Amino acid sequence: MRPVIIAANWKMHTSPSDAGELARTIAARTREPHVVRVICPPFLCLAAVGEALAASDPEVAIGAQNVHHELAGAYTGEVSAPMLEGLATWVILGHSERRRDAGETDELIGRKLGRALSAGLRPIVCVGEQLQDREAGRADAVVRNQIEGIFRALEAGNEARSTVVIAYEPVWAIGTGRNASGADAAAMTGVIRAGLAAQGFVAEAEDVPVLYGGSVTSANIGEFLGEPSIDGALVGGASLKPDEMAGIVARAAITAAARLGQPAAR
Ligand code: PGA
Repeated sequence: MRPVIIAANWKMHTSPSDAGELARTIAARTREPHVVRVICPPFLCLAAVGEALAASDPEVAIGAQNVHHELAGAYTGEVSAPMLEGLATWVILGHSERRRDAGETDELIGRKLGRALSAGLRPIVCVGEQLQDREAGRADAVVRNQIEGIFRALEAGNEARSTVVIAYEPVWAIGTGRNASGADAAAMTGVIRAGLAAQGFVAEAEDVPVLYGGSVTSANIGEFLGEPSIDGALVGGASLKPDEMAGIVARAAITAAARLGQPAAR
């Protein structure tokens, strides 16, 4: 059975002086059973968030928002996967803002994926089509290509690949207030799992958690978690707001309890 995961992508928000307090507040407002919570602050805030959560709610996992595709070397301003030891256990890879601003390709994201897995980081690999792709009826093909391009290089024998999480984030829905429909997002999880199966995940493809991301709020999270093939959300703007996170994780707890065959805690 797949877990229910709510991951907060803080993007380039917060600073080392206020990130710990925000993480502590969100952790306290989202203490629901059976929901995997992940907070991904900027690199510079990882230590502050780590200290705050170690003392208040160590169950909340911490993720980075990127890693470099090499282990070390002359890469000014970059951070490698092994450097995150003790600071993060998860990492977001291939976010569309990095594809857009840093020119990340599927092939490069695949190399980052290998580094992340070797370093023991649990990756959240982002895929998603542009608006023109959806309007032209190409969304499925684009996402399928991204999955194949990213996972092509991953060795079939890489044991760590069973930790992979995928986030389906249609680019036109990110930060726009315009979310995909639950049905469209659910349909895309089938495309994603078929793509993973084609890359040799075969037995595991059905076990890979697929999250939806793109203008998720406490008001629309139910539309996504009502779909059995969607396993949670990667939340951007709303993840900086404790009230929103409280509502999102409370809704996730209902799905998590249902999957476990338990009555919801409330
Ligand atoms: P958003 O961002 O929730 O602000 O749309 C989601 C993301 O970029 O992961």
